[in-house]
Amino acid sequence: MISQLTIQQILSRIDIIDIVGSFVKLKKRGTNYLGLCPFHNEKTPSFTVSPAKEIYKCFGCGKSGNTISFLMEHEKYSYAEALRWLANRYNVEVEETEVSPATRALHQTADSLYIINNFAQQFFSTVLLQSEEGQDIGLSYLKERGFSTSIIEKFQLGYCSQQRDAFAKAALAAQYNAEYLQKTGLVVLRDEQLVDNYRGRIIFPIHNQTGKIMGFGARIIGKSDRAPKYINTPENEIYIKSKILYGSYFARQAIDKADECLLVEGYTDVISLHQAGIEHVVASGGTSLTPDQLRLIKKYTANLTIIYDGDAAGIKAALRGLDLALEEGLHVQLVLLPGNEDPDSYVNKTGGEAFKQFVADNKKDIVLFQLEVSLKDAGSDSNKKAAVVNRIAETISRLNKAEDFTKQQDYIRQCAGLLKIDETGLNTLVNKFIRERITKQENKMASDDAKLAAETGVQETATTEEEALTLLNKDELIERNMARALIEFGGYAWDEKRKVADYFFEEFEINGLHELIDNKQMLWIIETYQSWIKEGIDPSPQRFLYHPDMQLSAIVVALMDTRYELSPNWKDHYDGPLLTREDRYKEEVSSTLIYLKLRKIKRLIDENQRDLEKTVSAEEQLTLMQTHLHFKQLEKTLTTAYETVIFK
Ligand code: UTP
Ligand code: MN
Repeated sequence: MISQLTIQQILSRIDIIDIVGSFVKLKKRGTNYLGLCPFHNEKTPSFTVSPAKEIYKCFGCGKSGNTISFLMEHEKYSYAEALRWLANRYNVEVEETEVSPATRALHQTADSLYIINNFAQQFFSTVLLQSEEGQDIGLSYLKERGFSTSIIEKFQLGYCSQQRDAFAKAALAAQYNAEYLQKTGLVVLRDEQLVDNYRGRIIFPIHNQTGKIMGFGARIIGKSDRAPKYINTPENEIYIKSKILYGSYFARQAIDKADECLLVEGYTDVISLHQAGIEHVVASGGTSLTPDQLRLIKKYTANLTIIYDGDAAGIKAALRGLDLALEEGLHVQLVLLPGNEDPDSYVNKTGGEAFKQFVADNKKDIVLFQLEVSLKDAGSDSNKKAAVVNRIAETISRLNKAEDFTKQQDYIRQCAGLLKIDETGLNTLVNKFIRERITKQENKMASDDAKLAAETGVQETATTEEEALTLLNKDELIERNMARALIEFGGYAWDEKRKVADYFFEEFEINGLHELIDNKQMLWIIETYQSWIKEGIDPSPQRFLYHPDMQLSAIVVALMDTRYELSPNWKDHYDGPLLTREDRYKEEVSSTLIYLKLRKIKRLIDENQRDLEKTVSAEEQLTLMQTHLHFKQLEKTLTTAYETVIFK
């Protein structure tokens, strides 16, 4: 884990305008900044960033958060990754603490593997470009295939010499650990000696999205029946095959621009297309797409175009991931290349422009494509045909988001046409699949919700919040205002001895106000505040805003959102210069506390009333009557005090 000290150092340097501004073009508007929302498509900007509050909010799609949640959302980082990214940006040295030994070991291993891979890449590149063997065998092979020096350098290709242990020796001489070296797959143990595993092969480094090298693919030169064409890095702490999209580091910006991602099979396909000026392309490594890979693509674009050679294996692989892709909301199209061509050979033949044109002209919607293929398979067998109908209905039912509704209807119409069946019938079948799945999901969600609510006490989610807020009653607004005043003004002076928070919690304890807070989220904030005081941690607004529990942080972000400010009556009654909340923080704190006490008195009066109705003994009745009067008196005092604060 990253130490609190480091986190504080990072947080103190955060400039939300600087960070968000490096992903979104922002213009100053008054005290805020405005830009086009990066989380949904829009033409007029509704994405606002408040430097004072350190939060952003989109009035179009409702997304809001702080600098860290922005990085998590936009870059798909984890909390820790976002912190590390910021640390790097602001040159803060990251101090690690209190990690479990297992986690520390994992991080250390991962770091070591990255370092070794980096060393290896440089080593193999140097061998390729500068050694005699590298040039004669590796470079000449790559040149023969048409790769330019600059593209070879861009993709950091290399060559591993045919010698037994050239790399192993260099790595050991550079003090790299033998165990880690084996983990990378770059070397293997033979007769108790480390020898190179990729001898005589071209080395393709595989970068993650941030450009770090996770592993390698090592291609044999020429053809061989005895050895595999590629040897790939074995699964280890950083090379997780199901998460790898080759080329994503180099394709990111181009995918953004094109709003499309081309998917090919091989490393060489990606590199050749790049060389031909087609850069929005990644490779799956020849297997069908995994959910992780689809999600990675979805981060960049919703338009996926799969380009495969026309052979059956490739098509099957493409279709296998189809349902998942649709569920991720991806719009998938397929381009089959003619004959035995793959993207690499085809683009070398036609050039970039013709290739682009071919792709544009031959894109086929993959749902319709699937239907065509399976209809051909089924022939005139009506059982098989029924299975096809079922299958396609199920596929279409995966497009079950509001924004996909038109697309779904289109599919139903087109597929019914191709199948020569009744459109309404297909519609009914699709709906049946949707219903089945919804029921399943609902059951699952109900149990998940219960679990979450039990763990955190939170029921309201950030997305339903807007709706919920319009339904809020005054009690709710007061509670929100109270939590917000506590976060914002808790550290301000109350009197000479006490801070606002001290006074606040004294009142809480004396009057037993905890139990009066109905909103579990607000209670969560208040209790967190109190526990921090007890532990001697400074409960600064920032600490709340950047709370590692993103649920709590999201609640605080929503709370700090000015639009929901309680507009107290005094604004209408007060005719002097309008004071800010800041000027009136004591009143704000007192008024909310008095309001809570009033709520308590009201409840006591009600309780007393019920007792009074039940009792028959005159003596008891008298006591209860007296209590009632006492409470009423208290209520009156509090009401006056409340109004004095509010209207003064
Ligand atoms: P290809 O056989 O199409 O290779 O496999 P390629 O990358 O296009 O190479 P060239 O153009 O023939 O030189 C596609 C992908 O499948 C994986 C690799 O990721 C490869 O890029 N693959 C293939 C392996 O992992 N191992 C193999 O033995 C073959
Ligand atoms: Mn190939």
